[in-house]
Amino acid sequence: MPDKKRKLKIGIIGTGGIAGAHISTYLDQPDVEIVAGADLVPGRVEEFFDRFDVEDARVYPDHHALLEGEKDLDAVSICTYNTTHAECTIDALQHGLHVLLEKPMCVTLEEAIAMREAEKASGKILSIGFQPRFDANMQMIKRIVESGTLGKIYYIQTGGGRRRGIPGSTFIEKSTGGIGAMGDIGCYALDVALNAIGYPKPLTVSGYVSDFFGTNPKYYAEHARFDVEDFAAGFVRLEGGIILDFRISWAMHPDTPGDTIIFGTEGALRIPSTDCWNGSVGGQMTLYHDLAGERAQTLVPLLKNDVKKGDLWNQKIRSFLDAIHEGGESPVPSSQIIINQAIIDGIMKSAQAGREIAIEIPGI
Ligand SMILES: NC(=O)c1ccc[n+]([C@@H]2O[C@H](COP(=O)([O-])OP(=O)(O)OC[C@H]3O[C@@H](n4cnc5c(N)ncnc54)[C@H](O)[C@@H]3O)[C@@H](O)[C@H]2O)c1
Repeated sequence: MPDKKRKLKIGIIGTGGIAGAHISTYLDQPDVEIVAGADLVPGRVEEFFDRFDVEDARVYPDHHALLEGEKDLDAVSICTYNTTHAECTIDALQHGLHVLLEKPMCVTLEEAIAMREAEKASGKILSIGFQPRFDANMQMIKRIVESGTLGKIYYIQTGGGRRRGIPGSTFIEKSTGGIGAMGDIGCYALDVALNAIGYPKPLTVSGYVSDFFGTNPKYYAEHARFDVEDFAAGFVRLEGGIILDFRISWAMHPDTPGDTIIFGTEGALRIPSTDCWNGSVGGQMTLYHDLAGERAQTLVPLLKNDVKKGDLWNQKIRSFLDAIHEGGESPVPSSQIIINQAIIDGIMKSAQAGREIAIEIPGI
């Protein structure tokens, strides 16, 4: 039997914005002790631990120092900006630690491949922080697809975004964010569709990215710092003859780049577009199908999350801790999310090349 009473010793790498959601959720768990934190910005870890009343935890100036200094850690949450995800994850795995990594997995496919190799060599768990996975309505999408109601899936359009919603901070520069709207919210939209259909292998992609809003002082005050994409689109051929048509936007003139629609030979599912950040569908879903020879549409009930399981963040953290105790599978495995990253990387590389490109993922 797994010893759930054993306190897991956890370190937090990167104590900026999202680390607060990690630590407050960890502090609600009876089997966790927060023992250390690291951040590049002097004083940030101290302020962070003060804010959450964490006493006696050790403070480090970067992830290297934390990994060298802590000899009996079980796991780390990596809450750094995107460009240091790969380095921090690989280093933590090589130190024999389980890793809960914030999304997106990283910036490039090459990084994702190196992370997978480090994970396999370590035998530890790497889970990527897609909390919408635990939302009852998101899970319903997968259940509908797996029930066969839609028949064979042949085409999916997915995406979403905001009319004006470019974040600030470390999201908007290549040196820290690495990628823009795709890394912030696009990876969620891809996960909704690809998780539902079992993450088939991507074969080719034709991608487009632009930055017309982020670089324009009329629309964005911090335009001088902005050097990532604020809009991206990709036309992706997936194994099994499925087309994925994807659009994501931090800023645009229309109210939405379109709902997510899954087209199948027996039915189609429309999932109202969301701002892609709160892990929920944007409204009631509709199933389109034929009924006794007539075209029909059925509203899918909006489901409530099971309060006993806690909120999405509780499930994200709890599933990671339980997998450590039980020696189980990663709740959100890199074997899936590497495909998400490969598509993002493919869109970027295709956009730079100005043509469709093939996607190769060694070992997948
Ligand atoms: N799951 C979600 O809902 C959600 C929400 C917001 C952000 N995120 C993700 O979380 C990540 C962080 O976002 P944020 O808004 O907290 O960013 P942030 O810039 O506020 O914080 C990142 C921190 O990491 C530190 N850091 C970078 N490299 C480091 C290293 N090698 N060692 C130690 N510290 C290091 C930086 O100094 C910074 O303080 C991003 O990847 C983002 O996509 C997820």
